[in-house]
Amino acid sequence: MAPGATAQTTFATKPDEKDPYIYQVGFGNRFASEALPGVLPYAQNSPQKVKYELYAEGMTGSSFVAPRAENQTAWLYRIRPSVAHQGFTRLPDNADLESNFLPSNPKVHVSPTQLAWHPFNLPSDNERVDFVDGLHTLAGNGDPTLREGIAIHVYTANASMENKAFCNNDGDMLILPQQGRLDVQTEFGKMMVRSGELLVIQRGMKFKVILPDGPSRGYIQEIYGSHYQLPELGPLGSHGLANARDFETPVAHFDIDQSAWQITYKVCGQLHACSQEHTPFDVVAWHGNYVPYKYALEKFTNVGSISKDHIDPSIFCVLTAKSKAPGVPLCDFLIFSPRWDVASHTFRPPYYHRNSCTEFMGLLYGTYGGRSDGFEPGAASYETGFCPHGVSYDEWKKASEADLKPMRIHEGTMAFMFESSMMFTMTDFAMKRSGKLHMHEPKMWDNLKAHFMSHLDEVNADLKAAGLPDLNSRSK
Ligand SMILES: [Fe+2]
Repeated sequence: MAPGATAQTTFATKPDEKDPYIYQVGFGNRFASEALPGVLPYAQNSPQKVKYELYAEGMTGSSFVAPRAENQTAWLYRIRPSVAHQGFTRLPDNADLESNFLPSNPKVHVSPTQLAWHPFNLPSDNERVDFVDGLHTLAGNGDPTLREGIAIHVYTANASMENKAFCNNDGDMLILPQQGRLDVQTEFGKMMVRSGELLVIQRGMKFKVILPDGPSRGYIQEIYGSHYQLPELGPLGSHGLANARDFETPVAHFDIDQSAWQITYKVCGQLHACSQEHTPFDVVAWHGNYVPYKYALEKFTNVGSISKDHIDPSIFCVLTAKSKAPGVPLCDFLIFSPRWDVASHTFRPPYYHRNSCTEFMGLLYGTYGGRSDGFEPGAASYETGFCPHGVSYDEWKKASEADLKPMRIHEGTMAFMFESSMMFTMTDFAMKRSGKLHMHEPKMWDNLKAHFMSHLDEVNADLKAAGLPDLNSRSK
């Protein structure tokens, strides 16, 4: 390379009008990034002296002895280590933030039936609500003290965090903006996330959220006991669904800022705060694989049946997280996005079903057809395990009689599902305070006609032809 030339790499993205930042690409890589040249130590992690007398700080996201495939760590080289924090103070509880979903908690409730919520209200103009203040929990399972379970939140905010950062010690957060971009500063660098992208920030990472587009709303899935990973592809082979090279991790960025900051920590569902006289975003260089990332859901490669019948919805899985039971996901994050529907001799909408899993759905943009519950962007719906559901009679009839040509579905739409093997309980906010709950109307299935009854003569004729007694001779 000629002197002065700049290395071009295909392993970094370019800024665009929606996102001014650049990213390293890949999923689960051992990334490395330095904002000043030569800061990362050579062939070691913790030298006696780091360049510029920075402090080395190690971070683990798994047990020290976790197998290599699951071992997650990071090394951060920073102006001051995180321990320079002046101690913790308990903050008042956020009444809408819940972490204990055990039925012994009087603040959570069981619903055997479908539930649905209209889009959650944004804060009014006369209040100032940032991302942390605006967290509201809807449902979940388990408890972070057990390192087992899951929580589903929405955030509604109208103010940027100023000299304030958040650190969730309870779980990894998968954040889905629905309205308004999030300009997120993390210890690892900056990320801009829009509706249609997911953002994962793992346990123990400090971050700050700025709202460049004003009032914002979105969904969050928090997992207590494991980390997100890409689903195995099995017979699909090496590619398809969410491809590893489409995930984006920030590059190192540090601020020189010796002003007063507050870091809010979520610990076992409680909020605690530290005050410190310097920014937490002072990491000059870092390396590791315990790092935040984002992914544009439009990049997902859908696969499906090209002959007949439905493939199980696990083909729509973007990310999955293991439970402690072998072969059972704690949760799968699924999306329903534009694709072709081509299966022949097939009832194409979702068939009537009762699944062992809990289904929680939201809509980022567009319209999601076949429902009668006012499912708009920012709304949500819920079905617990074995809660029967399926399309209305009109949808069934239309799909049963349709001329099955190849057709595009979900055009301009991004719907998602948090599907969990766990049973959920619902919070007071979901059931009462949000004011957005509406029971999924069970009457929508009342007109599912028993067409079989108009075929009794035909059945008797067939029985007779087969030498079998007719229906009239059967005991009632
Ligand atoms: Fe379902």
